[in-house]
Amino acid sequence: MIKLLTENLSRIASGHGITEVEIREKEGLIGDYLKKIEAQNLGFYKVIDDKEMTAEIRSFAETSSGKYSHIVVLGIGGSALGTICIVQSLSHLFKPSKLIVADNIDPVIIKELEDTIEFEKTLFIVVTKSGSTPETLSQFFYFKDKCEKAGLPVREHFVIITDPEKGLLRKIADIENIPSFEVPVTTGGRFSVLTAVGLLPAALIGSDTESLLKGARKIRENFLSEDPEKNLPFRLAAIQYLSYLKGKKINVIIPYAQKLIKFADWYRQLLAESIGKKVDREGNVVNVGITPVNALGATDQHSQSQLYNEGPNDKLHIFIKVNDLAPLVHIPNLYPDELSLTYLNNITFNKLIETEMEGTVQALTQNDRPNITIEIERVDEEALGGLFMLFECATAFLGEFFNINAFNQPGVELSKQITKQLLSPNHD
Ligand code: PA5
Repeated sequence: MIKLLTENLSRIASGHGITEVEIREKEGLIGDYLKKIEAQNLGFYKVIDDKEMTAEIRSFAETSSGKYSHIVVLGIGGSALGTICIVQSLSHLFKPSKLIVADNIDPVIIKELEDTIEFEKTLFIVVTKSGSTPETLSQFFYFKDKCEKAGLPVREHFVIITDPEKGLLRKIADIENIPSFEVPVTTGGRFSVLTAVGLLPAALIGSDTESLLKGARKIRENFLSEDPEKNLPFRLAAIQYLSYLKGKKINVIIPYAQKLIKFADWYRQLLAESIGKKVDREGNVVNVGITPVNALGATDQHSQSQLYNEGPNDKLHIFIKVNDLAPLVHIPNLYPDELSLTYLNNITFNKLIETEMEGTVQALTQNDRPNITIEIERVDEEALGGLFMLFECATAFLGEFFNINAFNQPGVELSKQITKQLLSPNHD
């Protein structure tokens, strides 16, 4: 079960914290906001019921089993970050995964990827909702060309995940009969991790996709509830918004779990691209946004913690605590006579990291730095599905709080257009 621990907010004085009364004042908005979200016809919380999609994914994973030594995902932004997070969270930290995500066009990636894989044993998953993203198209062309030149059947080595109807990649998939999956029209890139975009790679590395969806469904139930006690995503968004109004325009997300380091990357995109907007729904220039910052416990206690405790008080700190990180790992008591080490006697790494987090949280609270904690039992499929859904739903509520469209990205589109113009043969 996912818990949201917010009691430190009311312990913080001098106008930096948030009281229960302030949160309660917002709770009357839940029903209205849910109606507004429903009216936008968004797929991100509905796709998790798509049984046909999950059956197709399962069957594809079954037929692919044992065929490939590498699976390479070609995609960028929302088409890549969820998968990167799934692989990091659900795989061994140090045994190289057979799944590689090429989410950049740095030619070094292309060359070194080519050095790593054997084409005849590689499956490429090309992921692009729009079907027109130049980074993904160019990667696809490069590796498709390589396969064709090596005499490998494209249909055996490529699968495309894209819009059901629109875009170049859909056309190519149809004409060349390349296996394909759909990103539902109603689900944008950064909200697509629980569609085939994240589920197919997850299934291909042997993760339990049903549990991912189960975790997501549990949180979706909270999201759709008008009961403020249950509606965790609303509470999270209300805290982010109220904190913003008090000048906390930066959200630092701090998992105390190595396996969740990429979750923070996934959320960074979701928050930045969804809420950073120039105009509100009425077209007024508002230039709103919450700047996401990633940190990792305990590592970044020795990197950013000084700033968070004593620098500008402009941040909301969102910790992610995992109750059961791993079986207990004892720290041996090698110097029993050394008095300065008594605090380490007979403890485990589990206890050490948990206590370090507690120390960090208490220090921030004493320094009037707002902080909340999201608690999960362990890093597994169910918890991960729940976390994805929690933050997606909270982002939808944030869109309502700010009265902006959280589901478009005009700023990204503009830079795409300019790049195309700059590359066009007529450009001087
Ligand atoms: O969230 C979004 O819509 C974007 O970040 C996209 O995921 C990103 O631009 C890649 O687009 P596409 O999936 O169309 O290739």
